[in-house]
Amino acid sequence: PGIAPKVKQALHSSAATCADSEHPIGVFDSGVGGLTILRAVAASLPHEMLLYVADTAYLPYGQKSPDEIRRRARVITRFLVARQVKAIVVACNTATAMAIDALRGEFALPFIGVEPAVKPAFAATRSGVVGVLATPATMDSARFRALVARFGGGARLVTQACAGLAEHIERGELDGEQTEQLLRGFVEPLLCAGADTIVLGCTHYPLVVESVRRIAGPDVTVIENGGAVARELSRQLEQRGLRRTQGEGGRRFHVSGSVAGLRKVLTALGETNLGVESLPEDR
Ligand code: DGL
Repeated sequence: PGIAPKVKQALHSSAATCADSEHPIGVFDSGVGGLTILRAVAASLPHEMLLYVADTAYLPYGQKSPDEIRRRARVITRFLVARQVKAIVVACNTATAMAIDALRGEFALPFIGVEPAVKPAFAATRSGVVGVLATPATMDSARFRALVARFGGGARLVTQACAGLAEHIERGELDGEQTEQLLRGFVEPLLCAGADTIVLGCTHYPLVVESVRRIAGPDVTVIENGGAVARELSRQLEQRGLRRTQGEGGRRFHVSGSVAGLRKVLTALGETNLGVESLPEDR
């Protein structure tokens, strides 16, 4: 349903011709998970203005239907396109798995997604067993199955869908007894299965990477992939002549849920003095 081919064509060409290196970059996630990607992007592209959308009113994406996730991805993309972003980072494994193909089909700007780092994990494992922690929706997706089929030859993959973990992190509960217990329940079955390499397949999970490392012990490699996303974004901007190479960069946040709630968790994550505004209601 929706947009007629001609209108779509016009939207595509105008977006393509209007892009400018001075324009901002959009980044979105269901909550603060994408911050792990935003930090990597800000470190490698320090001159860019980054507009971050935290869709906390709809968190957790990992326990939503594919249709609902695609609907939210479209709403956020329209919001960012109206602010003239030159590229969008889908800083969420779940939204990438469920929505990035649809977004690429509908909007003419570059979308950079994030997927569980299965390929480097298979290259790193010595025991031949790789563990993946991700949301239930990511685990269920055809895209995840295809990723495993593409890179999984030769090693065994054990998966753990972590229902409830993203919400827990979103409340700013990054350490303490309860977090430790919840994480143990997810990580220990992977260790029992012989995994010596664990992939953090949700952008929220690197926010508790120290606890995962402590539980897993020194012989287990824990893999996250913010750096790879930042490199891919940089490459795509460069290719299109859209990389901003001077001037001050910055970040601005929009949130669909509570502004105070986002500020609180950002503060717990050591991010202060940030502009946070409400995401306008979609009509
Ligand atoms: N941060 C998201 C991801 O990378 C999902 C968290 C959620 O379930 O909302 O998958």
